[in-house]
Parts: sequence; C-alpha cells; structure tokens
Amino acid sequence: MKTIVVTNRKGGVGKTSTTHSLAHGLARLGRRVLMLDLDSQGHLSVWCEAPADAPTLAEVVSEKTALLEAKLSIYSDEDSGGTVDLIPGGDRLFLAEGEIERRHSIPQLWLKEQFELARTETYDVILMDCSPAVSVLWSAAIVAADWVIAPTEATGLGVEAVAELHVRLAQLSKLNAAVQLWGVVVTPYDARTNLGREAFEAFQEQANGSTVWPVRRNVKLSEAFGYRESIYQHAKDSAAAEDYGAIAAAIHKDLG
Ligand SMILES: Nc1ncnc2c1ncn2[C@@H]1O[C@H](COP(=O)(O)OP(=O)(O)O)[C@@H](O)[C@H]1O
Ligand SMILES: [Mg+2]
Repeated sequence: MKTIVVTNRKGGVGKTSTTHSLAHGLARLGRRVLMLDLDSQGHLSVWCEAPADAPTLAEVVSEKTALLEAKLSIYSDEDSGGTVDLIPGGDRLFLAEGEIERRHSIPQLWLKEQFELARTETYDVILMDCSPAVSVLWSAAIVAADWVIAPTEATGLGVEAVAELHVRLAQLSKLNAAVQLWGVVVTPYDARTNLGREAFEAFQEQANGSTVWPVRRNVKLSEAFGYRESIYQHAKDSAAAEDYGAIAAAIHKDLG
C-alpha cells in the first residue's frame, strides 16, 4: 500500500483533476483506491456527489467516526474489479485544523496515526487531495505520505512553486524522511508555445529523480466535473484520458 499526496501551494492548478483522474485510472487497472478530500473547498467531494449529511474527515478529527467508517463507494470497475472509495472533505474542515492541534501533542502525526489504526491495507493506494494552504492538515498529509505528486502550471511561477515544495518536504523530513516527490504533472501543457517547452525543461532540470508528466489542455476535464463523471467515463478517447492514463499506468507499475 502506498500513500500519495497531490499538492501545490497554488489554487486552480489541477490538484483535484489529478486526484480524481489518477484514482479512476488506477481502478481501471484493478487497483483498490481510497481518496481523501483534505480541502475545505470540497471540490473532490462535489465531483463524487458526496451527500451533504455524510460524515467527513472533520468528524474523523473530532472522533465522532472512525476513518474507514466515513468512506463512500464511488466507483467499481466491472472489468478489472478495481474500486474507488472517498472520505469526503468540505467546509467543516475549517474547524478541524484547530481541533487537531488541541487533541494532539504532535498534530502533524494525526493522519499517520489514523492510517495505522485503520485497516488501510485493504487498499493498494491512498490518494490525498490538498488545499493550497500550508496548514496542519497539509503537514499531516505529507507526514503520512510515501510519495508526493505536484500538479503545476507551465510557467516560471510554477517552477518556483515546485522549488518551494522541495524545501518544505526537506523541512518535514524529521517527521518523515522517506517521503519523496514521485512526479510533477505539468497541466495544462502546450508543447507549441516556448513558455510551455521552457517550463517543461526547467521542471526536468529540478526533478531530482522524479518524473515530469505532461497533461494537455482539455476542456473535457471541466466537462467531466460538470457531469460528475471521471474523465474515462466522460471522454475515454480524450487527450486528458490518455495523459492521465499514462501516469496511472506508471503508478500502477511502481506499486509493484
Ligand atoms: N489539463 C487541463 N486542461 C483544461 N482545463 C483543466 C485542466 N486541468 C484542470 N483544468 C480545469 O482547471 C480548473 C482547476 O482545476 P482543479 O483540478 O480544480 O485545480 P485545483 O484542485 O488545483 O484547484 C477546473 O475547472 C478544471 O476543470
Ligand atoms: Mg482542488
């Protein structure tokens, strides 16, 4: 079982699209996937049509429910047997931050302890969708993670943001020395522009062992969110389905 955090300090750079698309891509390859929505905006939960009255990670924080009691079944692949479950997030997570700090002497360890208490070995992979804020929940996700995936825009600012992520991962290495940047997802990527190509090369130079993946600009991703479908259900022959499918296949391979 591997735990993966999808993160970038910028908003609107494709974190939720990446989490949803990789989770469903892995399920199509037969993997059992758990998604965690750690964002108080709750876009991943909206995409999955989580009922408003369903327990969220906030109720896990306040110990009203155990971690896996809050899971919802989102998708089951008939051919491969793979599945996607979700533990929702949303605006109740605003209060959860302070609650973790009150309840735990080392708040950054909260999620790692939750994974140890729950039967997370029933999953092949846990994918965590984060908010842009560097918060207690973010640190807790990094400390509980094996791998980090950073979606980023193809600009100089995007390169800065990934450089800063390297620094923050190093800062948390006392609590989790094993965490590594598995991949950078450049999205949307346009190989026809100089800016796109130069940024892509800059990401490759700073990659430090991780792989840089392109995801082409594709309106089908926004449509898939609107229809509450995965990119594979909505447009299985689209560029986005192809690009995210390639990343999912590489994760599938690295899971062993
Ligand atoms: N490759 C892409 N091409 C076109 N639109 C995209 C692409 N990736 C994401 N989007 C759109 O950009 C917006 C922000 O994406 P989202 O995944 O919600 O980002 P974040 O979670 O980082 O805030 C959404 O409307 C989404 O549909
Ligand atoms: Mg998001």
